Amino acid sequence: MKILVIGASGRVGKILTQKLLDNKHEVIGTTRQDEVLFENENYTQISLDLLGELEDMEATIPNGIDAFYFVAGSRAKNLLALDLHGAVKTMKIAEHKKVKQYIMLSSVFSLETQKWKEEGFNELKDYYIAKHYADEWLVRNTKLNYTLLQPSALTESKGTGKIEVNIQHPGENPIEDVASTLVEVLNQKTAYKKVITMHSGATPIQKAIQNLPL
Ligand SMILES: NC(=O)c1ccc[n+]([C@@H]2O[C@H](COP(=O)([O-])OP(=O)(O)OC[C@H]3O[C@@H](n4cnc5c(N)ncnc54)[C@H](OP(=O)(O)O)[C@@H]3O)[C@@H](O)[C@H]2O)c1
Repeated sequence: MKILVIGASGRVGKILTQKLLDNKHEVIGTTRQDEVLFENENYTQISLDLLGELEDMEATIPNGIDAFYFVAGSRAKNLLALDLHGAVKTMKIAEHKKVKQYIMLSSVFSLETQKWKEEGFNELKDYYIAKHYADEWLVRNTKLNYTLLQPSALTESKGTGKIEVNIQHPGENPIEDVASTLVEVLNQKTAYKKVITMHSGATPIQKAIQNLPL
């Protein structure tokens, strides 16, 4: 498949892109850096600024892409313009370009505002608000075949390859497991049009995704 990774230089984006390349996909990564991130014949790179005008962004992104991943973020520096508006612009572009699958990396319980009373959410409230409305746009206002993956806190620890999905309380996830789950939801019918919360667990990633109800 031909896949766009928006945010290929990020902590998640780098691992995700490598895994997609390992699976022989053709990957177009986005970063504003000059350095080419991967030496691989199936990898190309574009400079995409999520703060740019929609028309410019659309002209920068090639046609004929099968799937978009959105794994970018502003690290709370530009929540409205990037995590919200930047994300929504990429959804609009995906619709215009008739992309078959749009996979968004979000954050646990972004759509369940009643859960924001739990410990740890208050400090991240502005981030959650931006993610909430970006995610709502994806689910309610697009016709995209989306998967909205919502991990808990990301850690640098080694991946276990095992997760729990549709969780009740937040936890932690090694970044590698989040990247593996993002790869797994590609082309998995059980992940189409789904919001999937996750943290580390006891179920192998492939099984956890395949077991989601259709
Ligand atoms: N931290 C957590 O615990 C946690 C938990 C759950 C979910 N998440 C989500 O996971 C996402 C990815 O996390 P991460 O740690 O991998 O992020 P990261 O390392 O901070 O990477 C951010 C990415 O966003 C891109 N970016 C930043 N500003 C941009 C702009 N103006 N235009 C285009 N691209 C831009 C960066 O690309 P450049 O090379 O162009 O700078 C980079 O690829 C977060 O944004 C968050 O929404 C995080």
